[in-house]
Amino acid sequence: MSQASKLPLLFTPFKLRDLTLPNRIVVPPMAQYSAVNGVANDFHLVHYGKFALGGAGTVFIEATGVNDEGRITNGCLGLWNDEQQRAFEPIVRMLKSHNTIPAIQIGHGGRTAGMQRPWFGNGPLNAQDLARGEKQWVPLGPSAVPLSDGWPVPKQMDAADLARTRDDFAAAARRAMQAGFEIVEIHMAHGYLLHSFLSPLSNFREDAYGGDLQGRMRFPLEVTEAVRAALPAGTPLFVRISSEDGIDGGWTMDDSVVLARELRARGVDVIDCSSGGNTPKGATNSNLHRAPGYQVPFATRIRGEAGIMTEGVGLIRDPDHAEKLLQDHAADLIGIGRQFLFDPFWGLHASHHFGIDPDFTSWPHQYAWWLEKWDKGIKTREKSGA
Ligand SMILES: Cc1cc2nc3c(=O)[nH]c(=O)nc-3n(C[C@H](O)[C@H](O)[C@H](O)COP(=O)(O)O)c2cc1C
Repeated sequence: MSQASKLPLLFTPFKLRDLTLPNRIVVPPMAQYSAVNGVANDFHLVHYGKFALGGAGTVFIEATGVNDEGRITNGCLGLWNDEQQRAFEPIVRMLKSHNTIPAIQIGHGGRTAGMQRPWFGNGPLNAQDLARGEKQWVPLGPSAVPLSDGWPVPKQMDAADLARTRDDFAAAARRAMQAGFEIVEIHMAHGYLLHSFLSPLSNFREDAYGGDLQGRMRFPLEVTEAVRAALPAGTPLFVRISSEDGIDGGWTMDDSVVLARELRARGVDVIDCSSGGNTPKGATNSNLHRAPGYQVPFATRIRGEAGIMTEGVGLIRDPDHAEKLLQDHAADLIGIGRQFLFDPFWGLHASHHFGIDPDFTSWPHQYAWWLEKWDKGIKTREKSGA
């Protein structure tokens, strides 16, 4: 495919403020629970580096705590000290050297911060976890109400907690810039701190940070303003939301449209549309029993009604499906999560699928020089029945 105008939208560069994403393929944040004291290590370099080798336009580093008490598990990354900041630098360098935009999601686990790593159960820490050396702390939340029975009762955040946490979000955004990241995403989804402020299922405050929709949005919007102010004007800001709680009496899509307008007014560029996570019984963001693209309708509606760019995500695996979503204006960017874990070369396989580089020229040159010969050789062998 020689003419840029014929490129599928999936492979058409995308301008956001001063940044041009090389394509519309985004690896969304996916926690790996493998950091020690919040510091990235060799695993993270190889893990994230392989998506850059595999043709992702933008790679989000997983949910990264803005402070120690904000980490979702003991194994989650952090960005509140110099050691953590320095450890991101080789990852950022690796991504940039392969024409991939380095991006990071910053967040606070709220009332479920300090929970079990998923392979130990995904619940609250227990005696075995503590014997294994996991650290436990009293989590923070909008109200002193646990996720459900058996989960720790969070401390209801007071004015000092709110101010400190807001400042920690801004400080993490500044550190992200110093480490070389080019996009920051605020984690406002999945039942963690900022989502738990938004949802009437977890926010029972009677002060200015609770009550009606305006009150429940106040703290997440203050955090957004602080993060926006910490970023250069040319740097895009994403916010990931849970578009709905998926349970009666919870956060709804109508609320998300209002929130998206408020976020746009505060300089947010893209809403990354996920769902659920705030109650054990509501929607979950990584449901395997849904149809491909199950969360994309959220992105479509927010895009249409709030006039802001959106990222659609959720069981998108097939390049033709991703392209159709873009052609249909269902979303502006396409998140490919678990399929990229399964096939770290998803981006390059998709580009080959569309005939963009029949000669594998967009593969890393270390592979490209032999791939074409290999491909032709295999096909010749197959034809000859050898
Ligand atoms: C292992 C794993 C870890 C995840 N960690 C995060 C995370 O750190 N932050 C976040 O916002 N979403 C997280 N998610 C949700 C994904 O970003 C994505 O939205 C979800 O998996 C649906 O997309 P997919 O069907 O393409 O995987 C995680 C999902 C998985 C499977």
